[in-house]
Amino acid sequence: MEETLKKKENILSAADIRTTFHTHGRTVQAVRGVSLYVEAGEILAVVGESGSGKSVLMKSVMGLMPDNAEVQADQLTFAGEDLLAMNPEQLRKLRGKEMAMIFQDPMTALNPLKTIGYHLIEVLKRHRGMNKEAAKKEAIAVLEQVGIPSPEKRLGQYPHEFSGGMRQRALIAMALCCRPKLLIADEPTTALDVTIQAQILDLLKSLQEETGMSIILITHDLGVVASLSHRIAVMYGGLLMEEGTTEEIFYSPKHPYTRALLHAVPKPQSGSKERLEPIPGMAPSLLDPPSGCPFAERCKFACDECRKEIPSYRIYSTTQRAMCIYSGEELDQQEAEVTAHGK
Ligand SMILES: Nc1ncnc2c1ncn2[C@@H]1O[C@H](COP(=O)(O)OP(=O)(O)OP(=O)(O)O)[C@@H](O)[C@H]1O
Ligand SMILES: [Mg+2]
Repeated sequence: MEETLKKKENILSAADIRTTFHTHGRTVQAVRGVSLYVEAGEILAVVGESGSGKSVLMKSVMGLMPDNAEVQADQLTFAGEDLLAMNPEQLRKLRGKEMAMIFQDPMTALNPLKTIGYHLIEVLKRHRGMNKEAAKKEAIAVLEQVGIPSPEKRLGQYPHEFSGGMRQRALIAMALCCRPKLLIADEPTTALDVTIQAQILDLLKSLQEETGMSIILITHDLGVVASLSHRIAVMYGGLLMEEGTTEEIFYSPKHPYTRALLHAVPKPQSGSKERLEPIPGMAPSLLDPPSGCPFAERCKFACDECRKEIPSYRIYSTTQRAMCIYSGEELDQQEAEVTAHGK
């Protein structure tokens, strides 16, 4: 069992989550043993390419997996409660109230035949036991809180009358109605254009500061999290390849995959001249995952040993660890040698 690193005031602690799908007689190992924690009042970004298992990991934590999925874990604790010991009904209650999730496409979470006000008022009645009048008042206040202008008028409108950005704000409002301790936002801005995307991320950050809740922000774009998250977890092939504070990940990344991801991110301060390096190759199939490090196929440092078994973590600080047989220093050295010989 992999131990999570620091364990201080964690709102969420998960050890060795394994999620497998059974479809058409085959198994997909979507999450292959991930341990992570979220501290009270922090924003954790979970990044990784498409198919790395980010959404499945979070849905496994929330107990939102379909019947063909099998979720196993050594530990899953939320706000001091053991989620593994809860029945589906208890989990459902917790999900509505203490932990909320918002998804990539707001339309799927909104009923097109009901007004925005109906959605909010229902949540407030159900989860906070408010009467209609109090719920309406609170709904207006929450819409205001998420920056929706003329909230009273907006309450009576339908989802299609909202722009994409406003719909995402409405969904965040719905999640906030429950005053969750943890908000999981799964790619909340990928469907939006860049300016609106930045506004929504700013909103999440200020809401976090205002309310003190914790946020897990899932994204495949490392660039968007730099100014937002406190810590970053990097996923690949169903595994947590590296985790660290945002500073550690950006200024002292250890894992070759994290380094490759960073090279593929445009740096605003360096202007447009810098050459971006997309990571060559494709993510491994999780249908029949390789026995060794899943990144070995695409890693310029990979050796035979990497392909034998999944490496264990190297611990770099109380907050940083990386799943690579080489230390950051050894990788730097190898890189320097290649550069020296290649020129
Ligand atoms: N219902 C399912 N049945 C079978 N396999 C699934 C199911 N849902 C997800 N998977 C598989 O699990 C793996 C991880 O998927 P997941 O959706 O977690 O990736 P992701 O990191 O969230 O990617 P993206 O950035 O595209 O959202 C993928 O290989 C996917 O095909
Ligand atoms: Mg996803």
